[in-house]
Amino acid sequence: MTTMESLIGLVNRIQRACTVLGDYGGGDDGNTFSSLWEALPSVAVVGGQSSGKSSVLESIVGRDFLPRGSGIVTRRPLVLQLHKMESETQEYAEFLHLPRRKFTDFALVRQEIQDETDRVTGKTKQISPIPIHLSIYSPNVVNLTLIDLPGLTKVAVEGQPESIVQDIEAMVRSYVEKPNSIILAISPANQDIATSDAIKLAREVDPTGERTFGVLTKLDLMDKGTNALDVLEGRSYRLQHPWVGIVNRSQAEINKNVDMVVARHKEREYFATSPDYGHLANKMGSEYLAKLLSKHLESVIRARIPSITSLINKSIEELESEMNHLGRPIALDAGAQLYTILELCRAFERIFKEHLDGGRPGGDR
Ligand code: GDP
Ligand code: NA
Ligand code: MG
Repeated sequence: MTTMESLIGLVNRIQRACTVLGDYGGGDDGNTFSSLWEALPSVAVVGGQSSGKSSVLESIVGRDFLPRGSGIVTRRPLVLQLHKMESETQEYAEFLHLPRRKFTDFALVRQEIQDETDRVTGKTKQISPIPIHLSIYSPNVVNLTLIDLPGLTKVAVEGQPESIVQDIEAMVRSYVEKPNSIILAISPANQDIATSDAIKLAREVDPTGERTFGVLTKLDLMDKGTNALDVLEGRSYRLQHPWVGIVNRSQAEINKNVDMVVARHKEREYFATSPDYGHLANKMGSEYLAKLLSKHLESVIRARIPSITSLINKSIEELESEMNHLGRPIALDAGAQLYTILELCRAFERIFKEHLDGGRPGGDR
């Protein structure tokens, strides 16, 4: 692994350990762990209902594991941490609420997300801001924290309180307004971009567009004789990062269990053979989006290394004094987690120093 990869991996594991310790739950009490968590970037997926958010997130991960479909499917935030493992490791997933269970069957992961959503909201169309935390450990992922969110809507449907429209918006906003949040703004190509909920919200919280990635889904569903070149080439709505067009699986393909490998192949073929988008083919599709995001994440972390390092130094001090007071009764798990964070912070510091000694002071900014 490169230094950057190991630093990002450590950042990811520190985030994870902070989460396990329970000091991060959306509550901004300004303690060591929440400030550490907040200092680290994550990617939030934002858009209207059924715009394809969960599908995009799945293709970035390269696994089928999320509930998808028409109507309101994602009803609690899903904080998904991808941890890149050394090769030869079998891929597995782990939920924060089921700490000692390793899922190797991703169909069961999807079932558990559904069950855990229902546990809090009931089998309803209601939503809850309480996140579900899921980690995936795999040799085939990039180190990344992604957050799947309920879709923005315009009207409450049967079984939903009238306030749901505002509740969803407030929930989504609480994630994307954080300066370290990278916004994956999903708009479907078969609707006018001027009506995109994703772009509307992204523009409000990130007016310069420096942390917004525009993603256009459902290119295959556009009316015949029309294309999305004005959007994809940045003429309709300019962002600092290039727009990425996507073709996810249709509902019929989901029902037929068309798998990820086949879907990606079809997507590549779609762009390669498209008369409209052929000239953009190597800058389109889920795989390109995943690479673009991880490159961006790397540059964000690189730029933040000095501030993350000083935060980590401060955390080490606080953690050490915390550990010294472990004489008082403290839950065993919490003690172990503190220790884990401390070890991870020390590792970050050490690798960072080695990085410096390697003759690249301050990272190559
Ligand atoms: P979310 O509500 O934004 O999370 O959207 P989902 O990922 O659950 O997708 C909603 C529906 O749109 C599902 O039935 C998907 O199969 C379908 N869908 C999403 N993206 C595409 C796409 O690019 N092409 C086609 N044909 N269908 C898509
Ligand atoms: Na949906
Ligand atoms: Mg969804």
